Amino acid sequence: MSDKEFRLLSELVYAECGIKLEPGKKIMLAGRLSKRLRALGLSSFREYHDYVTSPEGRASELGNMIDRVSTNKTEFFRERHHFDVLVDETIPSLVGPDGPCRDGHLNVWSAACSTGEEPYTLAMVLADARDKWPRLNASIMATDINREVLQHAIRAVYSKTIVQPVPAHMRTRYLLRGKGEKDGYYRVVPELRKMVTFRHTNLISGDYPFSCTMDVVFCRNVIIYFDRPTQTELFRRIYAKMSPGAYLFLGHAESLQGIEHKFEWTAPTIYRRPVGAERS
Ligand SMILES: C[S@@+](CC[C@H](N)C(=O)[O-])C[C@H]1O[C@@H](n2cnc3c(N)ncnc32)[C@H](O)[C@@H]1O
Repeated sequence: MSDKEFRLLSELVYAECGIKLEPGKKIMLAGRLSKRLRALGLSSFREYHDYVTSPEGRASELGNMIDRVSTNKTEFFRERHHFDVLVDETIPSLVGPDGPCRDGHLNVWSAACSTGEEPYTLAMVLADARDKWPRLNASIMATDINREVLQHAIRAVYSKTIVQPVPAHMRTRYLLRGKGEKDGYYRVVPELRKMVTFRHTNLISGDYPFSCTMDVVFCRNVIIYFDRPTQTELFRRIYAKMSPGAYLFLGHAESLQGIEHKFEWTAPTIYRRPVGAERS
C-alpha cells in the first residue's frame, strides 16, 4: 500500500466511522483489507478505494470494509470494577427510594457492544441484582457499527475459554452448556437474551435506534479510536440521549478530559448527567 493509498483509505474510514488511523497503522490496514482485494479480484488499493466509493461499492462493500477495520476486542466482565460500581452504587442511586427510576425500570445502552460480551455481562449483573431489588427490570440496547460482530452477539454462543471470566454461580444460572457437537460451547439463556436488543448503529451518525432516554450508558473502549472533535460531538449527542441522573461508563484508558461536556465526574471513568438537568 502506497502512502497515497493509505491516505485515501484512512480518510474514507475517518469520514465513515470516525476511526482515526495514524500513519503507523498502514501495515495493519493493508493486512486487514488485502483479503477483500483478492475476493473482489482487484489488483491495487487504489482500485479498491475507487470501487468502495462508487455507488455500487458503497452499497455492497463499504460495510465489509468497516467490519475489517474496526477492532473488536472484548470480554465478559471486562474492567470488572465497573460492574461492582453498577451493583453497589449505580442501581441503588437510580432505583432506590429517592432515585429517578423508582419504578425499577432501567434503560441501559451498550454503545459499542462488539460480539456481545458487554451487554450480556450487564444482563447477568442486572438479573442477579433482582435478588436485592425485586422490582428491578432492565432493557438493554446494544449497538455496534460492525455487522459481523452483531451476528455473533445475536447467536449468543461462546466458547469455554471466552466464558471463563463469568463467575461460577452466574455461569450456572445464565449459560446453557452445549451437548454433543456443541460440547465446549455455552449459550446465554433466553431470559437474558430477551433483555437485550441488538442494532446496527454508527455512533458518529447521531441517528440512534431508540426514542427513550438512557439511565445507564456503557461507551467503553471505542472513543480511543476517535479524535477530539469526534469525541466532543459524540458526547454531546450521548448526553442528550441520557435521562437526568443517568450514568456514563467509559473504558479504563478513556476520560472526558480535554473534551467540552456537561457531565459530572463521579469516579475515574464514571460520569453522570446532573440530576437536576433539564431533559433535552
Ligand atoms: C474494542 S471494541 C469494545 C467493545 C466493548 N465496549 C468493550 O469495552 O469490551 C470497540 C467496538 O467499537 C465498535 N465501533 C468502532 N467505531 C464505531 C462507530 N463509529 N459506531 C459504532 N461502533 C463503533 C467496533 O466495531 C468494536 O466492536
